[in-house]
Amino acid sequence: MDIDKIRKDFPILSRRVRGKPLVYLDNAATSQKPRAVIEALSNFYENTNANVHRGIHTLSEEATALYEEARKKVARFVHAPSPESVIFTRNTTESINLVAHAWGRKFINPGDEILLTGMEHHSNLVPWQILAQEKGAVLKFVEVRPDGTLNLEDLDRNAGPRTKLIAVTHVSNAIGTINPIRRFAQVAKSLGALLLVDAAQSVPHIPVDMRVLGCDFLAFSAHKMMGPTGVGVLIAHEEMLEKMSPFLGGGDMIREVWLEKATWNELPYKFEAGTPNFAGVAAFGAALDYLQGLGMDNVRAHEQELIGYALKSLLQIEGITIYGPMDSAQRSGVVSFNLGTIHPHDLGTVLDEDGIAVRAGHHCCQPLMRRLGINGTTRASVYVYNTKEEIDKFAKSLDRARTLFGVCAPSPTDRPAKPSAKKEGR
Ligand code: ALA
Repeated sequence: MDIDKIRKDFPILSRRVRGKPLVYLDNAATSQKPRAVIEALSNFYENTNANVHRGIHTLSEEATALYEEARKKVARFVHAPSPESVIFTRNTTESINLVAHAWGRKFINPGDEILLTGMEHHSNLVPWQILAQEKGAVLKFVEVRPDGTLNLEDLDRNAGPRTKLIAVTHVSNAIGTINPIRRFAQVAKSLGALLLVDAAQSVPHIPVDMRVLGCDFLAFSAHKMMGPTGVGVLIAHEEMLEKMSPFLGGGDMIREVWLEKATWNELPYKFEAGTPNFAGVAAFGAALDYLQGLGMDNVRAHEQELIGYALKSLLQIEGITIYGPMDSAQRSGVVSFNLGTIHPHDLGTVLDEDGIAVRAGHHCCQPLMRRLGINGTTRASVYVYNTKEEIDKFAKSLDRARTLFGVCAPSPTDRPAKPSAKKEGR
C-alpha cells in the first residue's frame, strides 16, 4: 500500500495542531474520514436527502436504495448470514443493549448464567449487570492475566450447563489484546449457549468473517472504521432475530397498529424503529468501499508492522510500563502504557503540545484497570494512515515528557501485579 497516497485521501491529516503537523493516534476512540466518505455525506444532503422506506417520490426511493445498498455492503464485509440479518443502530453500545433487552429479557431466567470477561468495555458489562439484577441471573467472568491475555482456564471452569450467553470483546479497546473467539465459540456451542462478540475494535482493523468466528451476535460501529458517527451495526441470524422481542417501539418497526396492540414488521425493520441515520448509513457505504479497496489483510499487515515498531521503540524509554501482550500477532494497533509516575492526563497534555492526539484515562474499562493495579493509562492507537515517522515523533515526545517531569519508577499502587513489559531506570 502507498501510505503517502492514502494519507492524501484524509483532509484532516494535513492540518496542524499547536503549530505542529497533526499526529493522530486516537483511532480506537474514533477514526478519521477519507474524502470519499465526507463527499458521500455532503452529496447525500445536496442531492438525495429524503426519509427512507416512507415516500413514493424519487428522492425517497434513491435514499432507500443507498440505505439498503449499505446494508448489503455490511453483510458482505463481515460475511453476515444475509442483508436481513444486519440491523442499523446508533453505535456498538446500542447494539449490545438491543440484545440485552430484546433477547435477554425474553430468554434469561433466574439462576441463568452470563459469562463475561474482565477486559470488557463498560458497554459490554453494564447492560448485563442491569439484566442480571432484573432477572436474578448470575454473572461469571473469565479473568485477565497479568500479561493482558484472558485466562482460558476460567472459561472452562466458569462455563457450565446454566450458561445462556457468553459475551466477549474480540479486541480490547484499552490494551489491544486479540482474543481467541473460536475457542469461546466452541465452548458456547458445546453448552448450547449463545456467543456475542463486541467487534468495535476488530472489524475496523482486522479481517473478520462471522462464519469463521462462529458467533451468534456481532456488534460494531461505523465511526471507528472511517464512517460517520451515529451508525452502529448488530448482526444475528434471522431465526434468532425472529424469536426476539422488539427493542424500541415506533414507526417502521410495525406491520399493523391498533389502539391496543400492534404486530411487527419483517426483518430487519422490526429492530429499526423511528427515522434512522440514513445519511450516515449512505456514507458508511462509501467507508466500506474504501476499506474494501485497501483490503483488510493489507490494513492489518500495516498496523501490525507499525505496532511492532512502536513496541520496540517505546521499550527503549526509561520508566515505561506497557500493558498487554508483547507479541504484535496477539495485539491490535493499540499500545497502552504508563511512564513512571506521570499522570496519563499530564502525558496526554505534553503529547498534545507536540500535535500528537492520544487517549488518557481508564478507557471505559475500570475493572480492567483495577485488575492491572492502575488508575489509567495513556493509549496510542494507529490506523492504516499512520507512519513510522509518526511513531518516531511520538517516542520523541514521550522522551520530552520524561525529561520534563523527571524519571521516577511507577509507585507500588500504580504498578501491575506482574507487568508484561517494563523498563525502569538504566
Ligand atoms: N470505546 C472508545 C475508546 O476506546 C471510545 O476510546
